[in-house]
Amino acid sequence: MSLEKTTFKSLTYPLYFVIFALSTSPSFAKGLADAYKDKFYIGTAVSPDSLFDKDIQRLVSSEFNSVTAETNMKLRHVAANQRAYDFNWSDSFVELGVKNNQFVVGHTLIWHKSLPDWFFVQLDGKRLNRDQLLTSMRQHIYTFVGRYRGQVKGWDVVNEAFNFDGSYRSSPWLDTIGEDYIEKAFEFAHQADPGAELYYNDYGLVNPKKQDAVVALIKRLKKKGIPIHAVGIQGHYSLTYPDLKVLDKTIARFAKLGVKVMITELDVSVLSFPGQEERGEDAVISTERMTALNPFAEKLPDEIEQQLTDRYVSLFKVFLKHHNSISRVTFWGITDASTWRNDWPVEGRTDYPLLFNRDLQPKKVYHALLELVDQH
Ligand code: GLA
Repeated sequence: MSLEKTTFKSLTYPLYFVIFALSTSPSFAKGLADAYKDKFYIGTAVSPDSLFDKDIQRLVSSEFNSVTAETNMKLRHVAANQRAYDFNWSDSFVELGVKNNQFVVGHTLIWHKSLPDWFFVQLDGKRLNRDQLLTSMRQHIYTFVGRYRGQVKGWDVVNEAFNFDGSYRSSPWLDTIGEDYIEKAFEFAHQADPGAELYYNDYGLVNPKKQDAVVALIKRLKKKGIPIHAVGIQGHYSLTYPDLKVLDKTIARFAKLGVKVMITELDVSVLSFPGQEERGEDAVISTERMTALNPFAEKLPDEIEQQLTDRYVSLFKVFLKHHNSISRVTFWGITDASTWRNDWPVEGRTDYPLLFNRDLQPKKVYHALLELVDQH
């Protein structure tokens, strides 16, 4: 045996062993985003705290290839103080996403909530008029979108602008500027970063009247040549809502308009959705009633866990059917420990809407979603 051959063999055998060992070790295991990479991005929302939690960040970087800021890019968070922006959190968030090679989404530029009062008044306390508010809005969008130009790849430009009956939702933007505040926001965002994707994002889009209003908006923007690249269908769902056939038709209808469809803010609650009087932090709920409203405080029964798994699989079958139109599915959080669903619609419950449990372990549904895409 020649010297070259011996050296080659002695080098390659250990190499095979290392590759085999790595490929079977859990840290090298195929993550969710990787499994779905030929279908659509798999994203998650990053909360203020989870950005700095090493264990959570390990999951974020290995399982997801897109990140959205859950709260800290909203106006009240970046501009809490009079005429002074605080970019500390959002800078770290964007930097980490870019470093992890993730598709970073900015959420959200224009919304009716999370607004600092000072933004809408002059220094002497008088309310801004239309022109003044348009100037402030442009400045906000230029500042924020401009700062992350080329790094934040897509923006939720306008969030939740319509009521269920299809009318425009009242907000300081609508009330002071008028209906064209939406068009202006998209124009300003495009000017600030012509390379960024721009989205309209809303919940309840399976509702016919709301859907009609958003379809009309997209058509109008497109006709006027104002860039809108996608509609974000917020997926705050439950074991029974929405009807899958209606969801299927909703996705198809938006896709036909020539925009991408994104499932944003996906979570599936296993709990009941009570009436208005029991919702929110001001609701007064007796202890007995709370026990009924919060039945899985100790543990999720196997039977309900199976229902959750089946429900997610059914939803993903619809998403996979439309994978040519859907470019991203983003979960609204990472683990059941810190999801807003524990406090909404009822404060202080124990819900199980996400893919990782309170110990950061993948749930049954996680494995089911991996298996599902393998069959497609
Ligand atoms: C809406 C908003 C999100 C977030 C959720 C609740 O869907 O778009 O930013 O506030 O509600 O967590």
